[in-house]
Formats: sequence, C-alpha cells, structure tokens
Amino acid sequence: MRTPSGLSAMVRVWDPFVRIFHWALAASFAVAWASSENSERVHDVAGYAAGGLVALRIVWGFVGSRYARFRQFVRSPGTVIDYLRAIGNGSERRYIGHNPAGGAMILVLLAAMAATAASGSLLTTDAFWGSEAMQRVHSLLAWGVVVLVAAHLGGVALASLRHRENLVRAMVFGVKRPAGPGDVA
Ligand code: HEM
Ligand code: HEM
Repeated sequence: MRTPSGLSAMVRVWDPFVRIFHWALAASFAVAWASSENSERVHDVAGYAAGGLVALRIVWGFVGSRYARFRQFVRSPGTVIDYLRAIGNGSERRYIGHNPAGGAMILVLLAAMAATAASGSLLTTDAFWGSEAMQRVHSLLAWGVVVLVAAHLGGVALASLRHRENLVRAMVFGVKRPAGPGDVA
C-alpha cells in the first residue's frame, strides 16, 4: 500500500496505554533494582508502581484495543512450540500483534513482575518482617525477571532482524508496516 508521498501507510498496533504501560514498567523495574540496596523509600514506591502497572495491564488485556487483548495474542502451548520450531528452520511468520512466543513471554513476565512485587510487599508485613526465607524468595524472583528480560530482548532483536522491522520503534510510536502476503494480521 502506497500513500501519495510514496511512503508505505502504517497500521496502528499498540494503543497509547500499552506503550506507556510498557515503558513505565521497564522504568519501574530499573528503578526498583537500582534502589534495592540504598533507598528503601524509592525502592518501595518503584516496586508498588510495577505491581500496580501489571494489575492495570491485566484489566486492559480484557477491555483494551484489539492487539492489547489476551484473546488476540495468548495461544495454545502447541502453537507456541510450532512457532519456536518454525524459528529453528527460519520459516516463522510475521505477526502484526505479538507472535505466539512473545505472547507466552508476556504472560511469564507479567506473572514474574507481580510475584516480585508481592513478595517485596510481604517483607513489610508483621508475618514476614525480617524473614530470610522471604528475602531469598524476593531476591530470586527479581533475578528471575532479569533473566526473562534478557530473553525478551533477545526475542525482540531476533524478530526485528528476521522481519526487517524495528519493533522497539513500534513500541514507541505504536505503528507497524501493514501485513503482507503470509503475515498474520
Ligand atoms: C524490565 C524490563 C521490561 C519488561 C518487564 C518488559 C515487559 C514487556 C511486556 C509485558 C510486553 C508486552 C507489551 C504489552 O502488550 O503490554 C513487552 C513488549 C515489548 N517490549 Fe518489553 N519489557 C522490558 C524491557 C524492554 C526493553 C528495554 C525493550 C527495548 C529496548 C523492550 C522492547 C519491547 C518490545 C519491542 C515489545 C513488543 C514486542 C512485540 O512486537 O511483540 N522491552 N515488554
Ligand atoms: C518489581 C518490583 C521489585 C523488584 C525488581 C525488587 C528487587 C529487589 C532486589 C533486587 C532486592 C535486593 C535483594 C537482596 O539483596 O537480597 C530487594 C530487596 C528488598 N525489597 Fe524489593 N523489589 C521489588 C518490589 C518491592 C516491593 C513492592 C517492596 C515492598 C514494599 C519491596 C521490599 C523490599 C525489601 C524490604 C527488601 C530488603 C530485603 C532484604 O533485607 O534483603 N520490594 N528488592
């Protein structure tokens, strides 16, 4: 599809809520991580912000715009495995929304962020105040998120290279090149 200016018309994919949510979540994680050793107040605010953002995103997954909905991007384990196999032989299709592996990663990231924030808030309760076991759980979960984010960035880089599109830019501006033949709209 060509516009009079010769530029390909772009399609809107990520609504403003998804974009603001995404970068706010990444920022709150970075701030919670960076402040964990030195500023309890900053750490707690950033941690609760992360937890609140995840809660809002879950609601948005049911009522948000088309590509924000879980129904649109959460696929069966079989579909995720088939997609990963297709990556292995270089035949995976381009998705306008989240691809099946990305969709699964999003669920895991949201759950891990929620569990990290929840275990952190438990550390402030009478029951778990000073509990070394809960501190260990909290720390392990936070490290788990770091590992998941590394995999997330790897997936984003891989999909961007394979389909020759800048997915980070799409998460900033919300638009992508329209679906071509063989793409999943
Ligand atoms: C703590 C750090 C991060 C977390 C927890 C995180 C989490 C997420 C989540 C939950 C989504 C799904 C968005 C939605 O539909 O709501 C997502 C998508 C995405 N993230 Fe991140 N993210 C992080 C860091 C980053 C960074 C640093 C970048 C890039 C430099 C990035 C690039 C992207 C892109 C491009 C997508 C869309 C993927 C697609 O096209 O399907 N993320 N991320
Ligand atoms: C995504 C959100 C969060 C992340 C990434 C995060 C990360 C971390 C990390 C990396 C540590 C250091 C662990 C260690 O040194 O063993 C820590 C400690 C701690 N966090 Fe969080 N945290 C988050 C949310 C919260 C929340 C919401 C609270 C409570 C309001 C909280 C309370 C604490 C406390 C009390 C400690 C000190 C535990 C200790 O003495 O070892 N965190 N957090």
